[in-house]
Amino acid sequence: MTKLMIEDRCILNGTVEISCAKNAILPIIAAALLTEEKCTLKDVPALDDVEVMEAVVRSTGAHAVREGQNQLIIQAESITDYEATYELIRKMRASFLIMGPMLARVGKVRISLPGGCAIGTRPIDLHLKGFSTMGANITLGHGYIEAYAERLKGDSVYLDFPSVGATENIMMAACLAEGLTVIENAAEEPEIVDLASFLNKMGGNVKGAGTDTIRIEGVKALKGTTHTAIPDRIEAGTFMIAAAATGGDVTLQSVVPEHLKPVTAKLKEMGAEITESEKSIRVRANERLNPIDIKTMPYPGFPTDMQSQMMTAMCVAKGTSIATETVFENRFMHINELKLMGAKIKVDGRSAIIEGCEKLSGARVKATDLRAGAALAIAGLCAEGATEISDVYHIDRGYITIEKKLQKLGAPIKRIEE
Ligand code: EPU
Repeated sequence: MTKLMIEDRCILNGTVEISCAKNAILPIIAAALLTEEKCTLKDVPALDDVEVMEAVVRSTGAHAVREGQNQLIIQAESITDYEATYELIRKMRASFLIMGPMLARVGKVRISLPGGCAIGTRPIDLHLKGFSTMGANITLGHGYIEAYAERLKGDSVYLDFPSVGATENIMMAACLAEGLTVIENAAEEPEIVDLASFLNKMGGNVKGAGTDTIRIEGVKALKGTTHTAIPDRIEAGTFMIAAAATGGDVTLQSVVPEHLKPVTAKLKEMGAEITESEKSIRVRANERLNPIDIKTMPYPGFPTDMQSQMMTAMCVAKGTSIATETVFENRFMHINELKLMGAKIKVDGRSAIIEGCEKLSGARVKATDLRAGAALAIAGLCAEGATEISDVYHIDRGYITIEKKLQKLGAPIKRIEE
């Protein structure tokens, strides 16, 4: 079993390089199935989730190979298998993102239902609603979804909630559909804009990404292209919070400050000093942070993927904060672990009331999901004595060598393989 061991509290100082965004790369890998030509993705971190997505596209008969350390080549010259098995979908829910590209490219797909996960039930009804509006014939049985469509037909799809995955899946499918597809109440996340930019480089015609209405005019075929995904705003936000919570001084390189506005605004409210330049952000804090309230919302609201990390900062703030989770119904699993470290948190429905204390105390804790694991790593950096985090595989799904990046900032953290 792999563990992260943090010896004692520390103050983070220095510069950290942010990697390309996992949540931008995953749909882009799926989108490469839309063409028989070669797609080259640059600066792709070898995250566990990215490797699962590579395996998923390979399972369709496509080639996905790494060149050097960080270049990923995908070529789906011919698609020979139409099934994404339970084993693959179970490993990573985002594997479901191949449904749109497969339906559009080869007209059929059999895919395991993803089921729930640690952060909630996470239905896929909005994805399916989109595909059936576009003429797909969908049947469900034995835990699988089968979908057929000779050629999808563009139509208007209204999403009841601006789901990131549904927007991406429908947007990809619409690129090869006949005529115009309009997605209303679409998700506006930067990862959607990045996917649209990749699809347009492939010869697609996607307009309005980044707003709540996306218009996609279908084309007959797409071509190969080369792309570098946007910087990971969640990895960046995690380091920003770690810097502020430890009273440090950290400069993040290779970021898009605009994407980090919701986090920046809250950290400023907490008293951190933030300096932005075109591609970097410096975060400084030299005293205990002020308490704040946050409510997670779709972009440009405060991201649900930052809620647990921000809660750790609230745990050591000088007063009472409230965190309300509105996007996922079960994203408070980190609370019990934070309590083991001395945090004072009460849950009232979808809100957590956090009474800040001067310092946390090191303990043995368990990462319950990816972002919860990141929150515990920050807690360990703010805790007196040693913290041991188990189930580190959750953290490795979305943070590349987190311990190395933190070590560079002076954190007494190491990875232990047992
Ligand atoms: N939802 C439905 N029906 C659907 C789809 C979603 O009711 O058909 C609900 C979900 O149950 C949830 C809400 O809508 O309550 C938001 O889900 P969304 O579809 O927006 O999320 P996702 O596409 O499954 C992506 C990220 C998540 C991130 C969310 C929200 C990827 C691969 N995953 O998930 O990232 O939390 O958007 O921003 O892009 C993470 O990186 O740790 C992570 C969980």
